[in-house]
Amino acid sequence: MASLTVRQLDETLKQQLRLRAARSGRSVEDEVRNILKAAAEDSDALAPMAKAAPGAGPVPAPAGKRVLLIVGGGIAAYKSLDLIRRLKERGFTVRCILTAAATQFITPLAAGALTGERVFTDLFDPASEFDVGHIRLARDTDLVVVAPATADLMAKMAGGHANDLATAVLLATTAKILLAPAMNPQMWANKATQRNLAQLTADGVTLIGPNAGEMAESGERGIGRMAEPMEIAGAVDRLLAAKGERPLAGKRVLVTSGPTHEPIDPVRYIANRSSGKQGHAIALAAVRAGAEVTLISGPVTLPDPPGVRMIKVESARDMLRAAEQALPVDVAIFAAAVADWRVANAGDQKIKKKAGETTPELSLVENPDILSTVAHRTDQRPKLVIGFAAETENVAANAKAKLARKGCDWIVANDVSPQTGIMGGDSNTVQLVTADGIEAWPPQSKDEVAGMLIARIAAAMNAT
Ligand SMILES: Cc1cc2nc3c(=O)[nH]c(=O)nc-3n(C[C@H](O)[C@H](O)[C@H](O)COP(=O)(O)O)c2cc1C
Repeated sequence: MASLTVRQLDETLKQQLRLRAARSGRSVEDEVRNILKAAAEDSDALAPMAKAAPGAGPVPAPAGKRVLLIVGGGIAAYKSLDLIRRLKERGFTVRCILTAAATQFITPLAAGALTGERVFTDLFDPASEFDVGHIRLARDTDLVVVAPATADLMAKMAGGHANDLATAVLLATTAKILLAPAMNPQMWANKATQRNLAQLTADGVTLIGPNAGEMAESGERGIGRMAEPMEIAGAVDRLLAAKGERPLAGKRVLVTSGPTHEPIDPVRYIANRSSGKQGHAIALAAVRAGAEVTLISGPVTLPDPPGVRMIKVESARDMLRAAEQALPVDVAIFAAAVADWRVANAGDQKIKKKAGETTPELSLVENPDILSTVAHRTDQRPKLVIGFAAETENVAANAKAKLARKGCDWIVANDVSPQTGIMGGDSNTVQLVTADGIEAWPPQSKDEVAGMLIARIAAAMNAT
């Protein structure tokens, strides 16, 4: 049989193959193998790859998945309202049961307004038994989440009680159960709670948290804080997603985005034209790929992407501080256009224009280099550190030099000369610079660049 190498193919075909390979996170050779294998089974396989590549634009939430949230009577019940929001923004349908004690902390009205569904509280409610009933509530769900799971609920579950709606549903369900315990550290450490926990784990219940930290009671610290709503929503996503649907599940990703503002005085600042569109699109693509995402953004006019832990900052120094506080993460993507300099002699008060006086002179000092600082850390260095290079000339050469200088793993280089319209625009043409060489990606939307980058990151993370 005659042999054929990728190198022998014509340039256009090679370019298409590279694009497909990048989108699917495979090597070009593997992509060719995949196409040939699929071609043997399906003659449509050589059609151009759909634009909705993995991670490009919104990757749908696990299709039509339903979550039944049981809220126990703990002080952390207020956080379950935020949890409803977090689950809804990931595309889940949420139904809610409040225990009698939970209604002392939050109202069915608030939970109902957020779920958009009727809230259930009573086992002996003729209307709901006729309408839905505890057995249907138990059956019509893909996952039951108990948050907060009180010591009392855990005890009842471990003992198989069913004397209220929450416990009856927990006993009747065949769906997976995710528990987010929350209680005072002494209650958590108590032998009875630990015994119940061991029983529940043996019964196949999945646990998230509790975390260590400050308690609601003033001055109390220890293990017993409910896991944060974002963590619980991430765990729900992981439990419900099909294999391969969330290639960054369980990974922590940090993204910086937007410009920074460097004050001249309390009312004036130096900024740049970055819109934050590319960084925000990357953060969203990472969420859709199942990652736990912290997005640190300078001042932008964009809405917060759903599902991210959002931190808003102004200056380069604020951004560095927030980035270091967000560590440890698995992947850090520095897409923000951080000002290289700040004003050394920024005024505490508004600098006044006075007749006859000379124009004030601004002297600049260098800002900290966030990318280089994080990439050179000896502790908590993310496994993959990716920088962006906004260049107006010698894009590839400058990006290659930047890769070496900054100590990062990849650079996404783009030409931001005014004629490209990239700064502030919706599309982007980038080159990916890695230790293996430079790859030119075709012109595409910033969402598509984000999708391609996240697919590449997922492939790299899952290969190690
Ligand atoms: C102000 C207050 C806060 C409480 N916080 C908690 C808590 O965080 N965790 C817990 O297990 N119990 C907590 N309790 C006790 C529960 O409300 C009590 O055990 C109740 O019976 C739980 O009912 P449920 O498990 O049916 O929701 C708290 C009680 C009060 C009065």
